[in-house]
Amino acid sequence: MGPEEVQPEDDFYLERPGHEPVNMTALRVAERKFKAKDYEKNMPEVLRVGSRRLIQVGQLPEGISEWLRPGASVYEIDGVPGFKYIPSAIAQEQQVYWARACLSEYMRPPNQNNLDLLYTGLPSNGLYNVTQTEITVQRRSDGVSQTMQRLELLRKMRWTTLGYQYDWTSKTYRFDEAPVPFPSELSAWSQHTAVALGYGPDFRAEAGIVNFYQLGDSLTSHVDRSEPNMDAPLLSLSLGASCVFLLGGADRESPVVPLFLHSGDVSVLAGPARRFYHGVPKILPESCPSHLQELLGSARININIRQVT
Ligand code: OGA
Ligand code: MN
Repeated sequence: MGPEEVQPEDDFYLERPGHEPVNMTALRVAERKFKAKDYEKNMPEVLRVGSRRLIQVGQLPEGISEWLRPGASVYEIDGVPGFKYIPSAIAQEQQVYWARACLSEYMRPPNQNNLDLLYTGLPSNGLYNVTQTEITVQRRSDGVSQTMQRLELLRKMRWTTLGYQYDWTSKTYRFDEAPVPFPSELSAWSQHTAVALGYGPDFRAEAGIVNFYQLGDSLTSHVDRSEPNMDAPLLSLSLGASCVFLLGGADRESPVVPLFLHSGDVSVLAGPARRFYHGVPKILPESCPSHLQELLGSARININIRQVT
C-alpha cells in the first residue's frame, strides 16, 4: 500500500482529545512512538549494522550481477524468520540510476502514478530533469494551470505502480488488464538478487510499487496480502532519505522490531515474514545522501517488487 494510506482496521484506533486511544496494539504503540516529532535523533533501540540482533548469515556472491555489491553482508534478525537485510547492496551510481528511472521511465503511462490522477500535462520525460526548474501542469479538477518547482511537484508524488497495476480502492491487482511490461533491467536485477540470496532461479518480477516519501510522511503498518502468490519473496530497495522501518509479526500484538533502512539497502520479506506486519513510521530529516540530494531533495524512494502469480 502507498504512503498515507490508512487501512480500514485503523478506524479502530479512535483518538479523541484528552483520551488515550483505545485498542493500542503493540504495533500501534511502536508506530506512535516513532512518529512523534520529538523522537527524532536518539533512537538507540533501532537496529543497525553492529546491533546484536542482526545476525550475519552470508555475503552476496561475486559474478551474479554488476548491480549488486559483491561481498555485501546479508543479515537476518534474530527471532524474525524469513526477513533479510542487505545494507549498502547498491552502489551510489546505481542508486542514482534507479532514482532517475523512478522519476522518468517508471512513472510514465501506462504505468499509473498519483500525479497523473491529479494533473494533465506532466512532462513526458518525467520529473528527473534537475535543470528544468519550473513545470506547468493543469489540474484535472478544474483545468487551472499551475506552475511549480520540480521539487515541489515531486513532493506531491506518492506512488507509481509497475507491471500488474494495482487498484488502491479494491486492494486488488487488475488481473483483467494486460500487465504493463515490467522494466527489463529491474526485472533482471530482481532475478539476480533472488538468486544471490538463495531463493533460486524462478523469481518473476510481475508487479512493483514505487513509494515516494517526504519528511513527515509515513506508511501505516500492514500486511501485503493482495498477491495470490504469498510464497515468493518480496524484494525492496531503498533510495534517498533514511527511514525507520517497523517489522512486526503475524498479528498486531506480536513484538515489533525497528530497523533503519538507508539509501542503497535491500530488504526482503520471505518465508513467514512475507505475511508479517510492517510499515514506515518515520523518514529521517537530513538523511538524504549528497549524491541524491539534487535529484530527490529530502525524499525517500522505496521500490518494492513482487511476484504475484
Ligand atoms: C509497501 C511497503 C515499505 C518501504 O509499499 O508495501 O511496505 O520501505 N513499503 O517503503
Ligand atoms: Mn508492504
